[in-house]
Amino acid sequence: WPLIAGDIEAIEALKIEHDAVILAHNYMTPEVFHGVADIVGDSLALAREAQHVQAGTIVLAGVHFMAETAKLLNPAKRVLLPDLRSGCSLAESITPQDVRDLRRAHPGVPVVTYVNTSAAVKAESDITCTSGNAVKIIESLGTDKVIMIPDQYLARNIAAQTGVEVITHPGSCEVHERFTPKDIEDIRSGHPGVVVLAHPECPPEVVKVADYAGSTADMQRFVTERRPAKVALITECSMSDNVSADHPDIEFVRPCNLCPHMKRNTLSAIRAALEHGQHEITVVPELAAPARRAIERMLEVR
Ligand code: 13P
Ligand code: SF4
Repeated sequence: WPLIAGDIEAIEALKIEHDAVILAHNYMTPEVFHGVADIVGDSLALAREAQHVQAGTIVLAGVHFMAETAKLLNPAKRVLLPDLRSGCSLAESITPQDVRDLRRAHPGVPVVTYVNTSAAVKAESDITCTSGNAVKIIESLGTDKVIMIPDQYLARNIAAQTGVEVITHPGSCEVHERFTPKDIEDIRSGHPGVVVLAHPECPPEVVKVADYAGSTADMQRFVTERRPAKVALITECSMSDNVSADHPDIEFVRPCNLCPHMKRNTLSAIRAALEHGQHEITVVPELAAPARRAIERMLEVR
């Protein structure tokens, strides 16, 4: 504890010294999420909040695509990612050439790209989406078919809610793809009455046997508003730690898989980011303009 407290104190002082704010994803460990973050949320909330930051420096406690999104929305600000190795299996799964090939194979079909992608892939896209707004985004296009990339499971889960046909790419989240229907069955038999909330990056067979599917912010909202006596969040491990801290009266069953990329955002990495101004995220102008357009189109859909 003294070490953690020392880091938290140092980070608070460094934030003032460097005119910085910390935007943190819901998958941060509690000492980051509750200890030093100024703004927390799901991918959609972080993108929205990035538009309104006043400070000169944003430290993105999350993964690379989130820092890139913050930079695209704030070209004049300095955006720091504490560890450049914080990637994402979804972002790694697709290249700009893959998007061009899909467009060629399906002329005229709009490309909806999950925010979990590089700026180069976003730049080839018509509009981005997150798990928190995917249904709305697809419906806003008014077409009966969309190319939805790169998460094959998210695409199929969202298609099931919209009636829109989706053309997919074989990407998946290394954390959520590991959950199985058997996991849910075991949770239910070990914890009668438990309410199961699954992230839509889980395979459709898992979402089908859950009670509810939604983004990390949707899960948090569900717990806060519906107050189930027992709940299981089928997602990354820190999610239950963070949500349960605000709900000591709710029992959290904790099956979870760790995201190694998110977990690189330790207090010491965040402290070093502020001390040394590392690692600054930049996007080349040729990609920044079209990638920003795809994100801004998403943010305009309410
Ligand atoms: P959301 O927080 O937007 O639900 O995304 C989950 C995720 O896996 C982010 O990388
Ligand atoms: Fe990517 Fe999955 Fe980790 Fe999110 S949880 S950053 S989607 S690998």
